[in-house]
Amino acid sequence: MTKPVLVVTSRYAKPIEDRIDRDFTARRNLKQGILTQQQLLAVADGADALFITPADRLDSAFFEKVSLTVKVIVTYSVGFEHIDLEAAARRKIPVAYTPGVNHEATADIAMLLLLGASRRAWEAQELIRMGAWRPLSPDMLLGWQVGGKVLGIFGMGRVGQAVARRARGFGMKIHYTNTSELPADVAGDAIYHKDPEDLLRVSQFLSLHAPETPATHHFLDGKAIDLLPPGAIVVNTARGGLVGDADLIAALKSGRIAAAGLDVFEGEPKLNPEYISLKNTFLLPHIGSATIETRTAMGMLALDNVDAVLSGRNAPTLVQR
Ligand code: DGY
Repeated sequence: MTKPVLVVTSRYAKPIEDRIDRDFTARRNLKQGILTQQQLLAVADGADALFITPADRLDSAFFEKVSLTVKVIVTYSVGFEHIDLEAAARRKIPVAYTPGVNHEATADIAMLLLLGASRRAWEAQELIRMGAWRPLSPDMLLGWQVGGKVLGIFGMGRVGQAVARRARGFGMKIHYTNTSELPADVAGDAIYHKDPEDLLRVSQFLSLHAPETPATHHFLDGKAIDLLPPGAIVVNTARGGLVGDADLIAALKSGRIAAAGLDVFEGEPKLNPEYISLKNTFLLPHIGSATIETRTAMGMLALDNVDAVLSGRNAPTLVQR
């Protein structure tokens, strides 16, 4: 029997690659970087399905030209802001994604950033690696304690809730804002703020966990920063576009924001170079979901969706429009 043709734009962990080889005729991106739109259109010609990542941007021009043979597109991500869903709908191409499997790994990275930023881990690393560590000085690298502080969570979905579970263990008090208040058995002792501005006013630590949409784009701008308690610490594992970089950088320089832990950046993999030159940043290259377990689960879920659509079954995680 002929296998369906699957366009695969990135490399994946071995179990995912093995399943692709077993079940599909794969058209792989053999170059190091990202395919241009023209290259993606060419490789999609005659294909049944596309397996993409957030690095591949599918806009309306893409959907106007994409091959009529394409029956499903799956993105290896929870976020789908890189896909023009309206344009996909016009072409009647279902889009699937990989929710429900990356929240624990991403919450771990949020805690790493929160602790790394508040305990000045980058400066401490630099001291060690530069051989500049001198006999203990009582005021060396003083950071900010997390226990007893308020952690404001902007977006209390699966990741936000997983961060709350972890932060409680560090003695933090959880406040959150969300499109709707969580049921009491899920929220526990977390305090809900309907108005995000009220959340900002109390957040000694602020962790961002909302999707990037027109409504949340540059949520953390100068106006929002002014509402935070002086010396607040900011963490972002969601999307870089939630933050107005120029405003956050100015606040980090002035000390209005004491420190920031960032795993995501607007325009990544490029990031504003001022983040790198600042000492009070703790920076990671978008590795929230990067564990073997999570990335394998994401790949398997992506392929489950492709299998389901191509065999006429209900796909487990289609993006609902
Ligand atoms: C996601 O799943 O959206 C993560 O940010 C990885 O892209």
